[in-house]
Amino acid sequence: MSAPVILVTAANGNQGKRLIPRLVAAGAELRACVRSDESARALRTAGVSDVLVGDLSDPAVLTRAMRGVDTVYYVGPALHPDERATGFAAVDAAKKAGVTHFVFSSVLHAIITDLIQHEIKRDIEEYLVSSGLEFTILQPANYMLRHRLVPAFQEGVFRLSWSLDRYQSMVDVDDVAQVAAAVLADPRAHAGATYELVAPGRYTAYDLARVISEVTGREVTAEEIAPDVFLKASLRVESLDEVPYQAKVLQAISARYSSHDFIGNANVLTWLLGRQPTTFEEFVRRESHAVQDQME
Ligand SMILES: NC(=O)c1ccc[n+]([C@@H]2O[C@H](COP(=O)([O-])OP(=O)(O)OC[C@H]3O[C@@H](n4cnc5c(N)ncnc54)[C@H](OP(=O)(O)O)[C@@H]3O)[C@@H](O)[C@H]2O)c1
Repeated sequence: MSAPVILVTAANGNQGKRLIPRLVAAGAELRACVRSDESARALRTAGVSDVLVGDLSDPAVLTRAMRGVDTVYYVGPALHPDERATGFAAVDAAKKAGVTHFVFSSVLHAIITDLIQHEIKRDIEEYLVSSGLEFTILQPANYMLRHRLVPAFQEGVFRLSWSLDRYQSMVDVDDVAQVAAAVLADPRAHAGATYELVAPGRYTAYDLARVISEVTGREVTAEEIAPDVFLKASLRVESLDEVPYQAKVLQAISARYSSHDFIGNANVLTWLLGRQPTTFEEFVRRESHAVQDQME
């Protein structure tokens, strides 16, 4: 019997970069979908022979992506104005192609409707659960991301574009990838499940700056920056008029995170990993060498 074919979308993104090597090492039969030739080359170098380049919001690309696939790991295009419609179309295309199991990478607390990208995922979750497909839904908290540490290491300042006093829970993307790989290895064992993926702890920006200080041995302070300044820098634009949808999504994030904590619980992730999830402190320790290299 041939191995089931697994499709991974957003395959060279934060999750994909960590998930693909696990699947390749496990000998999985893979198709990876990305938008650019550069990412396609990176994936082929990583050992994926079947790479599809195209925009997921194009229904023809989705049709091609799903053909001959047994299990889908669907990470939707972030900050895309058609994220909701693309998610619905991905479920439809999977069903039409005879996919047996659809794993959807959603977000922690997808029920929060004043976060635009959450409400969209809530809707996609509902669409998937109602589709008749076998499904598993993963709900990661905010990612611990290496690039967010760079200013702290470089300038001794940890910056956030929302209130420094609000608490947040996070998750290490490596832990998310470990869970995703386990689900894809045995989807039937996880059929019908919705899993919250959250590391232990809840942190204000001051707490995060203190942890980085303790790990690096240098003083790191927390600084709130205006959402517009953060947005222009991260989206690399002169004016937010150039990116109205992305600006709306990110402004809603700053507003919500300034007025409410965003917290979760590590029980489910602990059970899934069979160990304690990576803490923020462990993440900073692990990444510190890579961050130093990135700065050089
Ligand atoms: N950031 C967080 O803290 C966080 C937390 C929880 C959930 N989430 C959710 O997680 C998802 C993002 O996951 P991620 O960070 O792993 O992904 P990501 O890094 O945003 O994904 C980037 C990858 O997606 C591909 N891609 C982007 N737009 C595409 C399109 N229109 N068509 C085809 N491919 C496309 C890119 O291709 P190229 O490389 O070719 O450009 C790249 O390989 C979002 O839905 C986000 O809301 C994020």
